Amino acid sequence: MMDFLNDSRFEGLVPFESKLWLSSPTMHGDEQMWVDKAIQTNWVSTVGENIDVIERTMAENTGCKYAVALSAGTAALHLATKLAGEKLYGQALPDRGTLEGRRVFCSDCTFDASVNPVAYEDGEAVFIDTEYDTWNMDPTALEKAFEIYPEVKLVVIAHLYGTPGKIDELKAICEKHGAMIIEDAAESLGARYLLNGVWVETGSLGNFNAISFNGNKIITGSAGGMFLTNNKDDAVKVRKWSTQSREPAPWYQHTEIGYNYRMSNLIAGVVRGQMPYLNEHIAQKRAIWERYEKGLADLPVKMNPWDKQKSSPNFWLSCMTINDEAMCETFRDDCNYSYTPEPGKSCPSEILDAFAAFNAEGRPIWKPMHLQPIYSKNAFVTAQGLAKSPDGKGITAQGTDVGADIFRRGLCLPSDNKMTPQQQDFIIEIIHRCFSKRTK
Ligand SMILES: Cc1ncc(COP(=O)(O)O)c(C=O)c1O
Repeated sequence: MMDFLNDSRFEGLVPFESKLWLSSPTMHGDEQMWVDKAIQTNWVSTVGENIDVIERTMAENTGCKYAVALSAGTAALHLATKLAGEKLYGQALPDRGTLEGRRVFCSDCTFDASVNPVAYEDGEAVFIDTEYDTWNMDPTALEKAFEIYPEVKLVVIAHLYGTPGKIDELKAICEKHGAMIIEDAAESLGARYLLNGVWVETGSLGNFNAISFNGNKIITGSAGGMFLTNNKDDAVKVRKWSTQSREPAPWYQHTEIGYNYRMSNLIAGVVRGQMPYLNEHIAQKRAIWERYEKGLADLPVKMNPWDKQKSSPNFWLSCMTINDEAMCETFRDDCNYSYTPEPGKSCPSEILDAFAAFNAEGRPIWKPMHLQPIYSKNAFVTAQGLAKSPDGKGITAQGTDVGADIFRRGLCLPSDNKMTPQQQDFIIEIIHRCFSKRTK
């Protein structure tokens, strides 16, 4: 890494004494109360009032009829995926996944937990490229994918960084092709979308929906997740699967494969304590996004976009991209990177290194799934058509690759809701200095 502290561009700047995080948990005190109560009353396992309350509240808040509290968002996505597979293709043998031999269309610009469950269930993810307006699944690319693979009946849609995607268009395409939707709202709790003239919550838009309470999310249980659906039988089934698929018998009796995925009542206590503060966190995160937008307006960069008419993000992470002409020379392979600083130009790696030198945490944009070595053999469809052959022989010349472009030019900025305006101004100053000219 360059020596930023001795670089004339950063003269006069002193690193933060304590680290400024990308997005750390924000506790309010109520969490302790509900955890203590669970311990005092000895309800510390996977049954208890905290679980009941957060399931009820989450169902009410999202407008979904049924909620099942689980150990992680990943668990919610896995059971959603297994359930969708079972509904579409029937029950699988105990040693097989419900998606064996089936393709599933998946958001490409997302965290791999969105799509790994397709592989857990022996299916094959086909990645759908991203659009520039919200950085989510591109409806045009999805429509192309249905032209290429008309047999597909399941689509996994994520809302990146808490910004809702083009849900009305995506839903209409899925409906037209008779496909089910799994909505990955892990990052977007509290974000809303104007669907057919009505504001609806993300986490209620698919057949099955998943939320995460991972430590870095907008509210947290330290861990945990939630499965949401409007179908009672499906909620009952997921609850049963999450507790080892125990049958109502006097002994351990199993007719289906089970999982140990249920949330503990202690974790639920933390979530319960956090829930009343969701809107406060969203307001803080929104103020952070707006302060960045204003503070960076004179630079050749753009903030992560959202549809101002049809959506209300939760602003979980503020991000930016550098305009192409302002990118300095930069190189990345699977694990390494380098760059050459240039006056008036910069790149994500340089800015992230500068943050680190001044004791602040940023992060590269999530690397798209089609660029991940583990998924190198999976197909990737852009607005122009099939961009990567499913045999893994590489990307064809066809079309653009929006996800790769955002990954190349973008980064996540420190977005901690405890960040003060002064601290944020310092971050904005660091970014300015990255684009400035060395004096010696
Ligand atoms: C888009 C997305 N999906 C799924 C997950 C998985 O959630 P969890 O960490 O609770 O398993 C995360 C975050 O961790 C995420 O960001």
